[in-house]
This record gives sequence, structure tokens and C-alpha cells, in this order.
Amino acid sequence: MAVDEPPSAAAAPIPADSEQYIDPWTVQGGADGTIDYNKLVEQFGCAKLDPALIARIERLTKRPAHPFLKRGIFFAHRDLSEILDCYEKGIPFYLYTGRGPSSEALHLGHLVPFMFTKYLQDAFNVPLVIQLTDDEKSIWKGLDVTEARRLARENAKDIIACGFDVSKTFIFSDFEYVGGAFYRNIVQIQRCVTMNQVRGIFGLTMEDYIGKIAFPAVQAAPSFADTFPHMFGSRRDVRCLIPCAIDQDPYFRMTRDVAPRLGQLKPALIESRFFPALQGESGKMSASDTTSAIFVNDTSADIKNKVNKYAFSGGRQTIQEHREKGADLEVDVSWKYLNFFLEDDERLAHIGVEYGAGRMLTGEVKAELVKVLSDLVSRHQVARASVTEAVVDAFMAVRPMAAVAAGQA
Ligand code: TYM
Repeated sequence: MAVDEPPSAAAAPIPADSEQYIDPWTVQGGADGTIDYNKLVEQFGCAKLDPALIARIERLTKRPAHPFLKRGIFFAHRDLSEILDCYEKGIPFYLYTGRGPSSEALHLGHLVPFMFTKYLQDAFNVPLVIQLTDDEKSIWKGLDVTEARRLARENAKDIIACGFDVSKTFIFSDFEYVGGAFYRNIVQIQRCVTMNQVRGIFGLTMEDYIGKIAFPAVQAAPSFADTFPHMFGSRRDVRCLIPCAIDQDPYFRMTRDVAPRLGQLKPALIESRFFPALQGESGKMSASDTTSAIFVNDTSADIKNKVNKYAFSGGRQTIQEHREKGADLEVDVSWKYLNFFLEDDERLAHIGVEYGAGRMLTGEVKAELVKVLSDLVSRHQVARASVTEAVVDAFMAVRPMAAVAAGQA
């Protein structure tokens, strides 16, 4: 339940519609409505993932790269080579990712980092921490504290359903876990970042609640191993790799900036593009706009209805024109969604050729997409049904983790 809207929502310095603008809360495409990811990489100062790095991941993990890597969905990084160097030398690292629980269920865009994180956990056999920022959503969305805590647990069930290994995974909610070593790191980070910097990095203004100004340190602190004494003791030499979409980059630019001043290691990142809204590339799929999103608790009928009604089509006005010119794959949302979730490379390539040449029609591509998404969502629902409250408690328990300790020896 939203109690009130923060007064500064309209005051944030988001540039005119024609300018691309991305931060953790706003995704706005440029003049043509699309997101220029090359420009974003330049603006943010991260690096592009190149084929040599992907080949190195395959070599080191002795398994094929995840389709999200092969298809350029995870496309940018910071210091990934250094993490691979560690792995090669047997030096431990851990994974850190998270979710801001603002809706009852995850949407398909949220599944992207979690599915990818599951692959990374399996491929590298490393510990993982998952932060549920119920505090962030309470501050930004005006969510009642009790409701934010409830959503955190509900979202944890969707996350667990992605298949994480409980012996190596710690899920925590800020409302429950802030304190002790975690809070000590938060305060040390808060001592290093000025109002001016927060304004510059996150577009916050003097009208914003002070909670917003203080919060970035809460998302930064899990990048440091000694935030988790039950997993790493007081060690500061365990590096952290953060898989996320590129909207979260500002938090970790800030973290990387303060890390050396605190005697901590800079976290590395591996970052994805956005799974677009049904209406098109200009925005990311957002939980606050239900017509833009397909949720993991949608029924097959919901999925069919949303795809048929809202998925922006690159097909032409008339069948004749479509047969002559082919679909515009650059803007076609169904095609983009298939690139995320249709696993069969050959089938995907076939659809690309046939649809692009006008031999396949939008209706046929949408029917294929409905099948792919319905299968994905119903598999997820089956997995989620077995996640009991006791299972959630097991993932969220602050406990010594034997498997982790063994990996750190
Ligand atoms: P949240 O809840 O907005 O998003 C959760 C994760 O999903 C990614 N994401 C998307 N990826 C692809 N396509 C989309 N349309 C899309 N929408 C969201 C986000 O980048 C994120 O990885 N503040 C964070 C929670 C958080 C976190 C973290 C995220 C805390 N610590 C560490 C990543 C890493 C949030 O509100 O995420």
C-alpha cells in the first residue's frame, strides 16, 4: 500500500524527452526512443564484454557460455578480467545481487539477472548474497514498512525458485539484517560521500527525503566481504562480482570510488541490457506499470492477452507490404523477447530470417512467443510452489556456511 508519494518525485533533474537518461529509478530512451547502449557504456565509464572475454569464461568454467552472454544481453562489465584471474589462481570471490521488492511478484525483466546469477553460481561454484532492499522501496515508493517486509519475503520465494543452492546462498532483507558489521560498513561509506556527490550520481535534489540520500551506502556495503562475518569472518580480501542490469551501475560507481579509501577491494560488475517494456525499447519493463510487464504469476491466458494486445510489432501495415519489406526487427518486441528466452539457437535464427524477410507474420511470431513465455512461467510457478516459509527461513538464516568456508580455505 502506498502511503504517500515523496514530494520530490517531479523535482528530479531528468533531462528533456529527447535525451537518454538512465539511473536506478528512471529509464528514458533518446530522441528516437531507443537506448543507445554504446553511449551508456561511455557515459558510465564501464567496458564492453568482448568475445575474447566470453571465450575465456568458457575455457575456465569448462562449459558453454550462457545464452545471455552469447547473445550480448550481458554486454558490459567492470574488472571482470580480474575476477577471472582470481578464479584461475584459486583465489576466492563471491557474487552479490539484489531486488527492491516493489510488487507482489517479479516480472520477466527481473528474472534476467537472477537466471544469470544462478548460472554464475553453478559455473564458478561460489557463494552468493542477495539483498532485498525493502528499505529502499519504503523510502522511494512510500510503501508501508510492514508491506515492504511482506513483499521482500514474497519476492524471496520467486528468487529461490530460480534454483539457487541453499548451502552457498544468503538472502537478507535490509529491515532484518542491517546492524553489526553491515551497519559499521554503511556508516564508513556514508562518511566518504558528500551531498554533492549523491546529487551528481543519483540526480537527487535538496527536496528529497534524507532517507534517499543515505540509502546508496546500504546498497554499497554488501560489496565488501566483511559485511558478512558469518560467511567470511573479518576477511577483506574476498572479491565481489555483481551481476545486474546497467541501471544499478551508479550505486557501484560510488562504491568503487570509496572502496580504496576504506581499505576495501572494488567490486567487479557484469551488466545487462534491459528486457524492454511490451510497448517497446524506450523503457525497461517496469513493475509499476502492469500493462508494460509480464509477471511470473501471470496465467497463460494473461500472457497471451498481453502479448497480443501490447507487444509492439515491427510488422508492416498490410500483409502485402509486410511480404515485400519484411518486419523491422530493430523495433519488434516479440523478436526481442525471443532473443532473451528462446533457448534453441537454430529456431531463433530461423525466425529472424523468416520474419525479417516477411515470410512470417507478426501473429505467428507472437504465437511462438506466447508458448515460450507460458512454458517459462509455468515452470517457474511449479518451482515456486515448493518454496515454503521454512525454505525461505533457511535461505535467510544468519548461519555459518560450511560450504562457503570450505571454498575460502
Ligand atoms: P530492482 O528490483 O529494480 O531490479 C532487480 C534486478 O533486476 C534488474 N532489472 C532488469 N533487468 C533486465 N531488464 C529489466 N527490465 C529489469 N528491471 C530490473 C535490476 O538491474 C536488478 O539487477 N536497488 C535494486 C536492488 C538491489 C540490487 C543490488 C540489484 C540491491 N542490491 C545489487 C543488483 C545488484 C533494485 O531495486 O532492483
